Amino acid sequence: MSRAISFSPCRQIEGELKVPGDKSISHRALFVAGLAEGPSSISGLSAAKDVSSTLSAMKTLGATVSPGVSKAKVEGESWEVSSKPRDWEILLDAPGWGNLAAPSRPVDVGNSGTTIRILAGILAGSHVESTLTGDDSILRRPMLRVVQPLRAMGADIQGEEGGRLPPLRISGTPLDGRDHDLEMASAQVKSALLFAGLRASGTTSVAEPARSRDHTERLFRYLGLPIDESNNRLIIKAAEIPPSQLAVPGDLSSAAFFLVAAAIQPDSHVRIDDVGLNPTRSGILDILSAFGAKVVIENLHERCGEPWGSVEVRAADRRPLEVSGSLTVRSIDELPLVAVLGAHAEGETVVRDAGELRVKESDRIEAMVLGLQAMGVDAAATPDGFVVRGRGGRFSGARIDPRGDHRIAMAFAVAGITASEGQTVVDDWGCVAVSYPGFEGDLARVAVR
Ligand code: S3P
Repeated sequence: MSRAISFSPCRQIEGELKVPGDKSISHRALFVAGLAEGPSSISGLSAAKDVSSTLSAMKTLGATVSPGVSKAKVEGESWEVSSKPRDWEILLDAPGWGNLAAPSRPVDVGNSGTTIRILAGILAGSHVESTLTGDDSILRRPMLRVVQPLRAMGADIQGEEGGRLPPLRISGTPLDGRDHDLEMASAQVKSALLFAGLRASGTTSVAEPARSRDHTERLFRYLGLPIDESNNRLIIKAAEIPPSQLAVPGDLSSAAFFLVAAAIQPDSHVRIDDVGLNPTRSGILDILSAFGAKVVIENLHERCGEPWGSVEVRAADRRPLEVSGSLTVRSIDELPLVAVLGAHAEGETVVRDAGELRVKESDRIEAMVLGLQAMGVDAAATPDGFVVRGRGGRFSGARIDPRGDHRIAMAFAVAGITASEGQTVVDDWGCVAVSYPGFEGDLARVAVR
């Protein structure tokens, strides 16, 4: 287990920051660059561990990578994080989807659910045999949601318990287009099927019950790939991915920790520049407005098919929240922070329709409820969410086991600096590198003592 870090209450949050590149968009940028034939470049790539899992997977499949104009270095399978990860640019040369190298050993996706699920869709229609595996958390994550629809396209995928769990063994084979109706809104599953559709005969279509993050469809459109939409159904045909020059915005899910802290602490203000503001991801901004914070967006513009801009949050009221339906989908990775907001409101905060939180990197419902209870907050789990009865932030520090889950560790860092008293010790702090290496340094920079 890695070292523990302590957080004590601060007076105020004040400052301007840039956050690491968006993790979801970084994965997708690496997938398209690693499947195109020829050289591509990516700037602003996230230096998170999850993204380096995708990068090393694409290298195993034949891509070669060199650092571009960045201060960072890519060395073998690992990379060193620069002091300014947003400066990062990499150049990636790849053999093309039809010429992928057959991996000589299992592809290790580490902790990254996005990598294993989207890669399953990519490798299903390739000509190579592969095994996808990962850490203890990955070996517990449900895979049938992606294995079943891919099998319906003709994919040959085996896994533990009939394909329910990794490792996944994939024998690449020609695929047939199919119409898919997903039971749950999942960008990972949708993306796996859209990638598979690029290698399948005929037409592949995907409909989901609510719109999950749409980075894959935006990127495909930006690259000129044949993707259409009709009646909330995405339709795709076979095509070659062209080489590209891509730029990745800052990660709103990483920015959210500072925005939430600033919304909570009196007299606080924080500004994050060059951050992704995709509406399928920006539920947290609506939630912060409902909480009573002042949220201002500036300089909204489009780059590489995605909305970018600056966001500023100022503390004001602290109202209880109700999050359900499409707002749950649009804020799925920020729901641990909603529990912290709830502890600061006066009254009952309820999150519903979030059963998916139980099968993320940890059971995030249980992790948040038990951690907040340890801090003296009245919180209870429900099958598909939680209820927090806040008392205006009157709770104290505690020792927290983040269960190896980066977002749980960072959510409790925010709880710790906004608690009314006492120290919060977050064990196994190393897990935050999965999405935000160096988070504690950035937090210390804006937390005024
Ligand atoms: C992601 C999709 C979401 C999200 C995850 C990243 C992606 O998962 O929770 O952190 O990049 O596609 P689901 O597809 O399981 O909803």
